[in-house]
Amino acid sequence: MAGQKKLYIKTYGCQMNVYDSERMTEVMARAGYVGTETPEDADMILLNTCHIREKAAEKVYSELGRFRPLKEARPDLKVGVAGCVAQAEGEEIMRRAGLVDLVVGPQSYHRLPEMEALVREGKKALDTDFPAIDKFDALSERPKAKRGPTAFLTVQEGCDKFCAFCVVPYTRGAEASRPAARILAEARDLVERGVREVTLLGQNVNAYHGAGEDGSDWSLARLIGALAEIDGLVRIRYTTSHPNDMQDDLIAAHGACDKLMPYLHLPVQSGSDRILKRMNRGHDAESYIRLIERIRAARPDILMSGDFIVGFPEETEEDFQATLDLIETVGYGYAYSFKYSPRPGTPAAERDQLDEDVKSERLQRLQALLTRQQRAAQDAMIGREVGVLIEKPGRLPGQMVGKSDHLHAVHVTDPDLRPGDLVQVEIVESGSNSLAGRVIAPAT
Ligand code: SAH
Ligand code: SF4
Ligand code: F3S
Repeated sequence: MAGQKKLYIKTYGCQMNVYDSERMTEVMARAGYVGTETPEDADMILLNTCHIREKAAEKVYSELGRFRPLKEARPDLKVGVAGCVAQAEGEEIMRRAGLVDLVVGPQSYHRLPEMEALVREGKKALDTDFPAIDKFDALSERPKAKRGPTAFLTVQEGCDKFCAFCVVPYTRGAEASRPAARILAEARDLVERGVREVTLLGQNVNAYHGAGEDGSDWSLARLIGALAEIDGLVRIRYTTSHPNDMQDDLIAAHGACDKLMPYLHLPVQSGSDRILKRMNRGHDAESYIRLIERIRAARPDILMSGDFIVGFPEETEEDFQATLDLIETVGYGYAYSFKYSPRPGTPAAERDQLDEDVKSERLQRLQALLTRQQRAAQDAMIGREVGVLIEKPGRLPGQMVGKSDHLHAVHVTDPDLRPGDLVQVEIVESGSNSLAGRVIAPAT
C-alpha cells in the first residue's frame, strides 16, 4: 500500500520478547507501519533486546554497528532499542551508539507511536518508566488476520524473587498479573484466528494471581481451567515457573486437565543447598525433588525441563557434583544450562568469581549428562502414541513438522496434513533433534 512504512524487528531473549515484538508490530500499525523481514527496506529498525547474560548485551552493540551503513545510506531510517537492555542501559545506549534514535523499555511499548512521531521530527526519544497503568490495556486491539496454530500469551510479568544472579526484577519490574477476562478474550480472539495451542507466559507464570471474572483472585490453575473451556483451543502450556509457586491446585491440574500438556519447565539452577542459599532461591534440593515427585504422581508421563547455572561464585567441585546428582535423580527431557555471568547491579556480581576455565569445564560435563538424558527421553518415545499438532511443512516433499504433547519436534510424511491438524501419531524413529512418526488416527 502506498505511504505505508516498514518496520523490521529483531528479537533476542525469552518468549516474552517474542510476544512483545508481535504486540509492537501491531501497535505500530497505528503509526502506518507494516512488518518486514529484511532490514534493508525498513523505515524503522527495532532491536528487542535481552540482558540476561553478558554476551546478550554485547550482541546489541555489534548488531547496531552492522546497521550503521544502512543508516548512512538512508538518514531517514530510524533505529530503536527495546527490551531489557533498553531498560537497564537506556541512557548509556543513547551515549554509546549515536545512531540510535529511540530507546523504549518493556513497560512503555504502548507509547511507541508517539515516540515514533518525535523521532520523525528529528528528535531523540527515551522512555524507560514503569508506569502505573498496564501497557496491555493501552495497546491496540489485536488484528483479526489469520495466523499459525501456536501462540504465546503473556499473563504475568515481572519478578519479586531477586535471585542473586538475575537482572529480571530490575528490567521487568515487580510482579503484575493481567486480569483473567482480558486473557480469556485474547485467547478467544487467537482461536478465531486459527490458533489451537497457547503458551501462557510470565517470568514467574505460576505466581499468577489476577482478578478473576467473578471479582475474586484467580490462581494460574483457575485461569487454565477457564481457558480449557474455550472450544477450538486444544492445548495449553505455561512457562516459566518457580518451584516455590507450584501450588497444589496447579499440580492437580496436571492430572485433571486434558488440554494441559505433559511438559513442565521448572528451573532449579543448582543441586547444592549451600549455593541455592547464596543464590537466594528460597528452596533446597530436597524440596525440589519432592515437588517433582508430587507432580509426577499427578501426571506420570510429564516431561521435566530445567535451567542450570554452573560456576556461580564460591561453587566448589562438591557443589557441582551435587548438581550432577540432582540431575541424575530427576531425569530431564530438556534442559538449558549456562555459565554464570556477573550482571551489573546484582548481588552476586560483587562476589569473588570463579575462573572461566573452571566454568567451561563444568559446563561441558553438565551438558554431556543433560544431552544423554535428553536423548534417552527422546528414544523412550519410540513405539508410543502421542498427539502431534502440525505446524508447518518439513524439508522433504510431503513432510510436515509439528510438536508432540511433550514438546518434541515430530516429522510426519502425509500429504493430507495441514498446519493446525492435531493427529495421533506413533513414534517410529528418534533422530538427533527430532522424532519421526506415522499417523494412526485422522486429523481432528
Ligand atoms: N524466571 C525464570 C528464569 C528467567 S532467566 C526462573 O526463575 O526460572 C532464564 C534463565 O537464565 C535462568 O533460569 C537462569 O538459569 C539463567 N540466568 C539468569 N541469570 C543468569 C546469569 N547472571 N548468568 C547465567 N545464567 C543466568
Ligand atoms: Fe530471575 Fe529468579 Fe525472578 Fe527467575 S525467579 S526471573 S531467576 S529473579
Ligand atoms: Fe532476557 Fe529480558 Fe527475557 S533479560 S530473558 S529478554 S525478560
